[in-house]
Amino acid sequence: MDLVRYLADKVDIINDALAERLVKEGEFPESLHKAMHYSLFAGGKRLRPVLALAACEAVGGGFEAALDAACALECIHTYSLIHDDLPALDNDSLRRGRPTSHIVFGEAVAIMAGDALLTVAFDIMGRAQGADAARVLKALSEIASAAGSTGMIGGQVVDIESEGHSVDFPILEYIHIHKTGKLILASVRSGAIMAGANDAQLACMTRFGEAAGLAFQIADDILDVEGSSEDLGKATGGDAKKGKATYPALIGIVESRRRAAELVERAVEALDGFGERAEPLRAIARYVVSRKK
Ligand code: IPE
Ligand code: IPE
Ligand code: MG
Ligand code: MG
Ligand code: MG
Repeated sequence: MDLVRYLADKVDIINDALAERLVKEGEFPESLHKAMHYSLFAGGKRLRPVLALAACEAVGGGFEAALDAACALECIHTYSLIHDDLPALDNDSLRRGRPTSHIVFGEAVAIMAGDALLTVAFDIMGRAQGADAARVLKALSEIASAAGSTGMIGGQVVDIESEGHSVDFPILEYIHIHKTGKLILASVRSGAIMAGANDAQLACMTRFGEAAGLAFQIADDILDVEGSSEDLGKATGGDAKKGKATYPALIGIVESRRRAAELVERAVEALDGFGERAEPLRAIARYVVSRKK
């Protein structure tokens, strides 16, 4: 299948849906809405929303059913990037090829643009048009748990608290599964839920999402060592400087690459029962580790 084409089509759909659902850039308070748009429409890969749409299609739904969940996921992801870059966290000044939010708008507005993007995610889910209410509720709580202390924020806290310390493998795995894996897992699961997936289908999606989510963060660590800042739109080499707990730091690049490849195999295998409809998900799993950005 033509993944480049698939991604381009879906990214256009997601960008239009986000623009429709967000408060306009010029609305008062302008600094806040400008900051929200600045980070959201800076050309991210839209991996999480694309995964939601692809999972919805894999289960047999039309992707439209997962569009609100997809937008919510991208808003939460973008908020997490704004906060991840703050001086108190990773202190980075380049993101999605642009100066980071706090550099442009100041720390206070950057923090609040993140807060507002997190909040609007649940507003979008709550307003989901014409969707089955039970599915929306299930997807919403899935996304909320993945974003909070049992998910992304839990991982982010352990990531920050581990800086400069030598961590053991279970802690490293906890960080990666939580700070990144959980939202990717929730993307796949919520997309499938919006399509009305049954328990067996959801179990396969869980295996796929867990493996692809962890592989994604291992690849992110590898790209911080080997990637180019121009391609990635963010600084490279920062993890080593900050003493971050990363796969390359703990087990080396070669072993990291091997583990990521193994996880992708596992992800693809999880979809064995899905046939042709899951081809985009399989292609995305392979892209997770072959990507340059
Ligand atoms: C970066 O995510 C942060 C991580 C969780 C590793 P992406 O690599 O998906 O960033 P964008 O959305 O394309 O900018
Ligand atoms: C970030 O992990 C995970 C998030 C929840 C944003 P990183 O700190 O490794 O992400 P990058 O490399 O800055 O994009
Ligand atoms: Mg970080
Ligand atoms: Mg970071
Ligand atoms: Mg990183």
